[in-house]
Amino acid sequence: MTERLSQLSRSIEGKVAIITGAASGMGRATAHLFADEGAHVAVTDLGADRVAAVVDEITGAGRSAKGWTFDVTDGERAQAVVNEVVETFGGLDIVINNAGIALFTEIDSPEYEDNWATSLDVLLTSHTRLIRAALPHLRQSESPRIVNIASTEGWGATKYNSPYVAAKHGVIGLTKGLAVDLGREGITVNCICPGPIVTGLTGSISEQDREIFAKRRTAIGRYGIPEEVAHGTLNFSLPASRYMTGAVLPVDGGLLIKNA
Ligand code: NAI
Repeated sequence: MTERLSQLSRSIEGKVAIITGAASGMGRATAHLFADEGAHVAVTDLGADRVAAVVDEITGAGRSAKGWTFDVTDGERAQAVVNEVVETFGGLDIVINNAGIALFTEIDSPEYEDNWATSLDVLLTSHTRLIRAALPHLRQSESPRIVNIASTEGWGATKYNSPYVAAKHGVIGLTKGLAVDLGREGITVNCICPGPIVTGLTGSISEQDREIFAKRRTAIGRYGIPEEVAHGTLNFSLPASRYMTGAVLPVDGGLLIKNA
C-alpha cells in the first residue's frame, strides 16, 4: 500500500506579518489578503492617517490588523516597530519588504546623486534593516518567511531609471544571498518581480498609455492589479512553501518572456 502524502499547511491563519508600504497599492492589497487569510497584520507606512485608513478597512471587515507609522529608512524605528509588533501579536512570522518609490533621473542630472542615495536606501538598504531587526523573532517562528518585492526592473531596465534598476537588481541579489545564509534555519527568503501594476506608483501614467504599453509588452495584454501580486506573495508565505527559497518570481503578465 502506498503511504499518504505529507499534509503541508496552506494556511497563514494566526501568523503575524509585517508589511512595509502597506497604505497603498500592492502593500495594501497584501495586507488585506493576509488578514482575510486569518493572519495578524502589522500595517506600516508613512503617514498616520494613511496607515489608520487601511487598518480601519481591515478591522472593519472583522479581521486582525494594527498600524505603525514607519519610514523604512529609519533603522532605529525598524527595531522599535518590530518590538511593538511582537508585543502586540505575540511573535513575528512573515516579513514583507514592499515599500517603494520611483525617481526617474538621467546620469548627468544634478539630482542624480541624491536620487541614487534615496533609491538605494528606500528600495534596498531598508530591507536589510528590517530583516536584521526581525531575525531573532523569525528564529522563534515555526514557519519564518521573508518576501522582498523587487521588479521586472530587477531583470532589465527602463530608460532613465538607473538608480531604481540598480536597487531592484540588488533586491534580487540580497534575496539569494540571505536565502543561502538562512536556509539551514528554515527561514525562506524569496522575491517577487511585479510587472506593470496599477498602483500609486504608476498612477500618473494615462490609461491610454498604459493600454498601449501593456498590449505591446505583456502576454496578458493589460496592466495587473495589486491583488494579483499579493497572491504570489501569499504563496511564498505559506508554511507549505518551506522548500522554496532564493526564488525570483515574475508576476508580470508575461512581460519578461514576450519577444514579440
Ligand atoms: P504605491 O506607491 O502604491 O505604494 C508604495 C508605498 O510605499 C506607498 O504607500 C508609500 O508611502 C510607501 N513608501 C514610500 N517610501 C517609503 C518609506 N521611506 N518608508 C515607508 N514607506 C514608504 O506603489 P506600489 O506599486 O504598490 O509599490 C510597491 C512595491 O512594488 C515597490 O517596491 C515598487 O517598487 C514595486 N513595484 C511596483 C510596480 C508597479 O508597476 N506599480 C512594478 C514593479 C515593482
